[in-house]
Amino acid sequence: MTETAVDFLSVREAAEQRRSIRAYEPGPIPREELEEILDVVRRAPSAFNVQPWRFLVVESPELKAQLAAAAFNQRQVHSAPAVIVLYTDMEDALANLDAVVHPGMPPEQRESTKATIRRMFSAQPADEREAWGAGQGYIALGYLLLAAEARGYQTSPMSGFDLAKVKEVLGLPANARVPALVAIGHAAEEGFPQHRLPLASLMKVA
Ligand SMILES: Cc1cc2nc3c(=O)[nH]c(=O)nc-3n(C[C@H](O)[C@H](O)[C@H](O)COP(=O)(O)O)c2cc1C
Repeated sequence: MTETAVDFLSVREAAEQRRSIRAYEPGPIPREELEEILDVVRRAPSAFNVQPWRFLVVESPELKAQLAAAAFNQRQVHSAPAVIVLYTDMEDALANLDAVVHPGMPPEQRESTKATIRRMFSAQPADEREAWGAGQGYIALGYLLLAAEARGYQTSPMSGFDLAKVKEVLGLPANARVPALVAIGHAAEEGFPQHRLPLASLMKVA
């Protein structure tokens, strides 16, 4: 596919075309292309705009081997040139509320918004708060899968891993959650043709 065609893949085209790929061509992903994809992902919306997602791009072969061991040796972790660890960290998100509350708000409203968000989350058990953050992370996951496909890359999202081991290997904070590991690269296999429920079985209008 030419560079131009990749750039112009529409949301519909990317959604129709994408499938999980578990074998990848070798070769690094240019940093600017990774950044272009993640620059789309960071634009995902989240409740209160807290944006609790963080992206750790694992490229080092040594680290990738350790990550694979923590992910039941799934073959896509071994062969992909990069695995994006999409994790969420509500402690970090709440420590940085100043950066996420809209700068266009009048100062008083900014302060009261921050106080409301802090109050709401501090009343919650930490586990529940982090689970909530992980739920927001899946919004970013959807963006990531589509953005990568639109940019000419294939992906394999994974929730099959040992969370404690992944955190240990990567040195992630104890409170962090990992909505998914995402292998990314150029496909070296076709993958399964897409199979989805028909819209008529999913949609009702009331
Ligand atoms: C959150 C999430 C977790 C997944 N975990 C795994 C996994 O651990 N291993 C795997 O081989 N596929 C995994 N998948 C891929 C799904 O099996 C796949 O998306 C689904 O069967 C539809 O196929 P498609 O992606 O090729 O269209 C996961 C997908 C999602 C969205």
